Amino acid sequence: MKYVPEPFRIKTVEPIKMTTREFRQDAIREAGYNTFLLKSEDVYIDLLTDSGTNAMSDAQWAALQLGDEAYAGSRNFYDLERTIQEVYGYKHVVPTHQGRAAEHIMSRLLIKPGDFVPGNMYFTTTRLHQELAGGTFNDAIIDEAHDPSCTHPFKGNFDVKKLQALVDKVGPKRIPYISAATCVNMAGGQPISIANLHELRAFADKHGLKIMLDNTRTVENAYFIQKREAGFANKSVKQIVREICSFTDGCTSSAKKDGLVNIGGFLATNDEDFFVASKEQVVIYEGLHTYGGLAGRDMAAMAQGIRESVANDDYIKYRVEQVNFFGDLLSAAGVPHVVPHGGHAIFLDARAFLPHIDQEQFPAQALAAEIYVETGVRAMERGNVSAGRNKETGQNYRPKLELVRLTIPRRVYTQSHLEYAAEGIINVFQKRDCVKGLRFTFEPSALRFFQARFETVG
Ligand code: F0G
Repeated sequence: MKYVPEPFRIKTVEPIKMTTREFRQDAIREAGYNTFLLKSEDVYIDLLTDSGTNAMSDAQWAALQLGDEAYAGSRNFYDLERTIQEVYGYKHVVPTHQGRAAEHIMSRLLIKPGDFVPGNMYFTTTRLHQELAGGTFNDAIIDEAHDPSCTHPFKGNFDVKKLQALVDKVGPKRIPYISAATCVNMAGGQPISIANLHELRAFADKHGLKIMLDNTRTVENAYFIQKREAGFANKSVKQIVREICSFTDGCTSSAKKDGLVNIGGFLATNDEDFFVASKEQVVIYEGLHTYGGLAGRDMAAMAQGIRESVANDDYIKYRVEQVNFFGDLLSAAGVPHVVPHGGHAIFLDARAFLPHIDQEQFPAQALAAEIYVETGVRAMERGNVSAGRNKETGQNYRPKLELVRLTIPRRVYTQSHLEYAAEGIINVFQKRDCVKGLRFTFEPSALRFFQARFETVG
């Protein structure tokens, strides 16, 4: 178990509050057993998400002072455009305020009612925008991705046979694009390989299909390729990032993750017509195409963050290996979680952790609440609550993966924070029989995990 030391030092600190168990019991009850509804100031170590929780560098803070807040043609837009062209290799760039805004625009433009969108597992906002545009998501990830204990090195890979089955069933005309993600979030942050991208491109070309990338965690994915895929050990992460993108026709991206900022996203494409249409849409929903809902200073920080994410391999090695170190602490104590460890988070296997709680009583939701009470650490449910209900049957989807995500913000927490969190989770594991299931007291109709409220059962 080795901790890769931080390639930075700390210049600014933010105090965090330590609370008592009694305090946290009241807080989680008031939050309806939903960690999204806790107040941030009542959380000691916040592992809710890696989204927008990054610590910016001194160069990024300095860049904020160089914001050109002109309504049109801000110099920060041109800097961002150049940076995205250089780092990811796409020709055209449309900034958006975050990733889902780019998904909204892409889905509206490309998906027609009755279409099918295959992907390497769903992501919540991505699938919702596909559905709102009249499409149906089709899961084409390899079976291994649904097995938390399978140690396949690239559990984010597509199963091309599943894609072929969809083409055979509905025909290529009803498939507007293949939705490919790097470091597949809902599978546990699992990477896709270059070999699989080759196969995917060949399949897409054979059937005249586009591939649109969810580029949110491509840098983390590139690190896994460098580490695990034959022939890549001597390539830089920067080179591998370009190579990943080169298999695709365009992307949507949330820069709140790999992009090392607190807000920002973009859509990028090599297709001139799609670019022109996207610029028309961004003006309606986000803002002019040279700011897309962002301040000039936000674009400046984003451009700098994207450059830093690939400037050398030290940062990404520290980042992914920090997540791995945390997972190793849990492995050593036998706490069930998804392996291999992903790039941005450790995902506890709530079914194996709490076998006495039926999936209809939301074991992952209950476990996230219990971890908060025990430790003050905030995690997130990624299971039956996140998956939602099947529109036709009204039944919960009951996904195979019933997970609690412990997501590590970038450049924020130290080795001892992670050791403290692991110790607390191991304590919960030792008294797991006492954890109770939950039932809804309020169930929102879309993306219900954000605002749902629960009470304990029994
Ligand atoms: N795609 C992926 C793979 C994501 O993980 C996210 C966000 C988005 C798209 C949407 O981007 O938040 O900027 O609108 N994931 C966050 C998370 C919310 O916690 O996993 P956004």
